[in-house]
Amino acid sequence: MDRGCFIASLAALVSAPAVAVSPKPAKTFDAMALPKAELHLHIEGTLEPELIFTIAGRNGIRLDYPNVEALREAYNFSDLQSFLDVYYHAMEALRVERDYYELTTAYLKRAQSQGVRHAEIFFDPQAHTKRGVALAVVVEGISSALADGRKNFGITSRLIMCFLRDMPSDSAMATLESALPHKDRIVGVGLDSAERGNPPSKFTAVFDRARAEGFLTVAHAGEEAGPEYVWEALDLLKVSRVDHGVRSLEDPKLVARLVAERMPLTVCPLSNVRLRVVPSLAAHPLKRMIDAGLMCTCNSDDPAYFGGYVGDNFVQTATALSLSNQQLIALARNSFEASFIDEALRRQYLAELDSVSL
Ligand code: ADE
Ligand code: ZN
Repeated sequence: MDRGCFIASLAALVSAPAVAVSPKPAKTFDAMALPKAELHLHIEGTLEPELIFTIAGRNGIRLDYPNVEALREAYNFSDLQSFLDVYYHAMEALRVERDYYELTTAYLKRAQSQGVRHAEIFFDPQAHTKRGVALAVVVEGISSALADGRKNFGITSRLIMCFLRDMPSDSAMATLESALPHKDRIVGVGLDSAERGNPPSKFTAVFDRARAEGFLTVAHAGEEAGPEYVWEALDLLKVSRVDHGVRSLEDPKLVARLVAERMPLTVCPLSNVRLRVVPSLAAHPLKRMIDAGLMCTCNSDDPAYFGGYVGDNFVQTATALSLSNQQLIALARNSFEASFIDEALRRQYLAELDSVSL
């Protein structure tokens, strides 16, 4: 290079505008991928319409709806009971072990894509046994899928059987007794179905017996019925978690008790909107509950019916209520802290959560 050319290129270099070094774009926080445990999930509520018709066809069962579209049109619920009518009808398709295995596997596959590391799954034994399906068929189908799910999807799990509170307590007691041979697969008992008029006190003796047999206890309370049902779940059923519990906010004394005991509430925002417990997601009390110091978790309840799985509940609720990233991480942290897992696994999941950067 001659001298003139060298000087010209030097000058060009000096006068060249500084190359703009753009700041590294902030990584958008991904609530969907956030490692989480799902603690309020009815496996029968993950039955997607397509799978209902596949299984019903295989089993030669005629449903009240001619096709998937007609069934979906029925998903415009006015309250809990209007949902339960469709939910119990759709699960009539389930008959044999393979059906329960496929149902559970389909859920786990979806859960994996929503950040779920651990799932505590409800099932409704009486909804199957009253149709002539043996409890062993239901338990074997679900629990073998859960065992395979640990290998195939990396999701750990626990199984909780719920008593239908709109059936007599004698039926719940008989169901508990028939489940004793399956004790090694079932960690706890719960209480679900039509809440109003079926208070926890109706099941005190059943839950006493369940605890004596070594089961942990949870119960739906304060979903449609008021705070008095939450009091009963705590005092009479001695629950380790309250499922829903959103109406607890109506009673300051109850809130104080729940906060003092760090009692986990398994809140299900999309469910509450679809069942008209609250008018909209923007009006959902989750943020107020967090601000009150309650130990909340975020869950999906019956995701095939309510428009979203657990990650969707996180994402949509975060947007509607302007939840901060810290609040979302706290919800995920609570889910592991409130879960029925052993301490080593809990520490492992919490460590993974701690590595999530904001
Ligand atoms: N069974 C399934 N989903 C339920 C809910 N949200 N409340 C009571 N029982 C149920
Ligand atoms: Zn529920």
